[in-house]
Amino acid sequence: YLNDKQAQDPGIEARLQLMNEKIQQVIQEKDGKNNRNVIRIPVVVHVVYKLPVQNISDAQIQSQIDVLNEDYRRLNVDASLVPPPYEPLAADCQIEFCLASRDPNGQATNGITRTLTTANTFSINDAVKRTSTGGKDAWPTDKYLNIWVCNLTNPLLGFATIPGSVNADLDGVVIAYKYFGRIGTAEAPYNKGRTATHEVGHWLNLLHIWGDDEGSADPCGGTDQVTDTPNQEDENYGCPTFPQESCGNDGDMSMNYMDYVNDACMYMFTTGQGNRMRATLENFRSGILTSSGCLPALAPSDCDTLNNITGGDGLVYYFMNEIFPEETGYLTGNNSLGYQAFAEKYTSPEVQIINSLRFDFAIASTQSSNTMATAIVWDATGPNGAPGNVLAQNTFSLEEVIVNVDNFSFTDVYFPEPPTVN
Ligand code: ARG
Ligand code: ZN
Ligand code: CA
Repeated sequence: YLNDKQAQDPGIEARLQLMNEKIQQVIQEKDGKNNRNVIRIPVVVHVVYKLPVQNISDAQIQSQIDVLNEDYRRLNVDASLVPPPYEPLAADCQIEFCLASRDPNGQATNGITRTLTTANTFSINDAVKRTSTGGKDAWPTDKYLNIWVCNLTNPLLGFATIPGSVNADLDGVVIAYKYFGRIGTAEAPYNKGRTATHEVGHWLNLLHIWGDDEGSADPCGGTDQVTDTPNQEDENYGCPTFPQESCGNDGDMSMNYMDYVNDACMYMFTTGQGNRMRATLENFRSGILTSSGCLPALAPSDCDTLNNITGGDGLVYYFMNEIFPEETGYLTGNNSLGYQAFAEKYTSPEVQIINSLRFDFAIASTQSSNTMATAIVWDATGPNGAPGNVLAQNTFSLEEVIVNVDNFSFTDVYFPEPPTVN
C-alpha cells in the first residue's frame, strides 16, 4: 500500500525520512525516561457490508477492542510465551483504546457505523474509505482512529496508513471481516485479533520487523528504525520454533506483532517499538491526545467546552496570582448541540482561589427596583461535568448593574468566603 502511495507521490519518502529523524531525536532526548501516562485512542469502526454475514456483531467488534487493550498494555494471556532472551524487551506500550462514546458532533455514539454496500469486495484502492465509492467517509482522522471492516480480496488480511503518507481523509486501518476480533466470523489461523494489532502498529508508525528489504540485494540491510528489535532477514509465516537465526541475530523475533506469523504465534512489542509509537502520537498524531472521543456525550443541560460555543457574550477571567494572564470563555450562547449554554466550564491549570466574579454588561434594565441576581460558582461534579455542588454564591442588585452600565464600569461580586477550585 505504501509502495503504491510512493509511486503516486514521490514526496512521501522525504517526509517519512524527516519524521523518522524527529522521532529518533525525541526518543533520544527522553532517553528511557518515558512519561508514564497512558494514552487513550478513540476508535470508530465502520462496518461496510454487502452480505449479512459481513455485518459483524457489536460483540465481535468489542472483542477486537479488548485484544488491542490487552496487546498494547501487555495484558495478553500469551505474553508468557516470549522466549527468555527477548523477555526483557517485551513492553507495556501504555496505549489504550475505546470505542468512541462521543461522535464528531458531541452526540452519543457506540463508536460503530454500519453501511450497506453493493461492492462484492474491496482492495487497497481505498474505495472502502469513501461513501461515494461504496464505502464510508472517515470521521475526523486527527481525532479518531478509523477502522473499516469489510470483505477484502484474498489473501489480504488488512492494511494501514503510516502517519503522513496519505491525505487526512484516507488515514486509518482496513481489516477483512474474517480477521477482525476473536469471535463470530474470525477464521483461524488469524482469529485472535492480531491483524488489527499489527495494522494499528503501522498506523502508529511501526514498520515490519524484518526491515521491508525482502527480495533486495542485501536482505540484512533494511531497518525497522527501532533499536532494540534484532536485525532479521525476511518475514516469517506459520508458527516458527524459536530460535530461527538470520542476519547474525540470536533468533528472529518472529513472535513480534510486526512479523507475518499466525495470530497464535505473535505476542509482543518491544520497548523501542512502544517508544516509537508514543513519540509518534505525541508529535505526529497529537490531535488524538486532545480528542474528546472517549468522553461521555454532552447532555443538553451540560456546560459545553469553551471550544464548542458558537456565539454569545464574552466572559474574560483572570488568574490574579499569575499577573493577570487572560483566559476567555462565554457566559451565554449556543453550544455545539444548538442549546443555549448559560454557564461555561473552565479548567484552571492549578488550584485557584476565586475572590470575586466580574461582570461586564453592555446594557441592563429592570422593572422593579429591588430585583436581585445571584452569582454562583459550582464544582463540575454533576453528570458529564455539569454543575454539581455550589462552592460559593452571592447576590447583587440589578440597580447596581444599571448604575455600573451607565458609568461604563464593571459589576464586581465578591465572596466573603472565597472558594478554592481546581
Ligand atoms: N497486512 C498483513 C497482511 O495482510 C497483515 C498480517 C497480519 N498477520 C496476522 N497474523 N494477523 O498479510
Ligand atoms: Zn504489515
Ligand atoms: Ca531484513
